[in-house]
Formats: sequence, C-alpha cells, structure tokens
Amino acid sequence: MRDKIAELLAAAKQAHGRAYAPYSGFKVGAAVLGDDDKIYMGCNTENISYPCGSCAEQNAVGAFVCGGGHKIKAVLVMADSIKTISPCGACLQRINEFADKETTIYLADLEKIRQTYSLRELLPNAFNDLEINK
Ligand code: THU
Repeated sequence: MRDKIAELLAAAKQAHGRAYAPYSGFKVGAAVLGDDDKIYMGCNTENISYPCGSCAEQNAVGAFVCGGGHKIKAVLVMADSIKTISPCGACLQRINEFADKETTIYLADLEKIRQTYSLRELLPNAFNDLEINK
C-alpha cells in the first residue's frame, strides 16, 4: 500500500497541474485507486457558465468507471491550500456509490498526505437505499 500511496500522490499532482480553474484560481487534483489496483485521475474543470464546472473527484470517479473499475479502495484529493481540503458533499456521495467499508480518503497538499479518513467518517449517513414504505 505504501507504493500505491506514493503513486496516488504522483497521479494527483499530475492532475493538479492540469486543472482548469481560471475562474476560482483554485486547482484541485484527485486520484482514485480501484480494486483493480489501477489509478484514475481527475482535475477540476471550470466553465465560464460557473455551475457547469466539475470537481476533480467527480472527474476521477468518471475515469474510474470508464476504465472498468468496480470498487474504490482509496481517493486522494490534493490542493495547494493553507487549510486541508475535503471532498464536497456531492463528491462524497459519488465516491460512496463505488465504496465499501474500507474506502479511505487521503487529503493532501502538493507534497504529502495531511489527513486520512474513512469515507464513513466523512459521510456517515450516506444515501444508500431506494426502498420506499408501502
Ligand atoms: N473543487 C474540487 O475540485 N474538489 C473539491 O474537493 C473542492 C472544490 C473545485 C471546484 C471549483 O472548481 C474549485 O475547486 C473552487 O471551488
């Protein structure tokens, strides 16, 4: 796992470098580790019509699905900010769709992991059930 964490950091850094964030000026890189042990990258991609922009994690989850992944083992999110950033609520739900009990979220700056959480800690009451009362 140590090697994989180094790979996740390198992938997120590459993604961070490619982020398109001319409106906020806030670049984010994300790397998803799939149960296939492959790493998928995403960067935030903003738009002049602001609500059309997408988060780094959202794009990394899309790359993971399109690449054939089934379960997410870990996600690393990276930004160059004083405060450690955490995925937004919508992205936690997107990660949750492919997560299991073990799924880990690493929060990093450009050099290192600063905090580690389980997805459960960040989204304890995820929406997981479409059953209705009859
Ligand atoms: N952003 C992400 O890509 N991921 C996060 O976890 C937080 C926010 C992006 C969205 C927007 O392009 C910019 O950061 C500022 O909110």
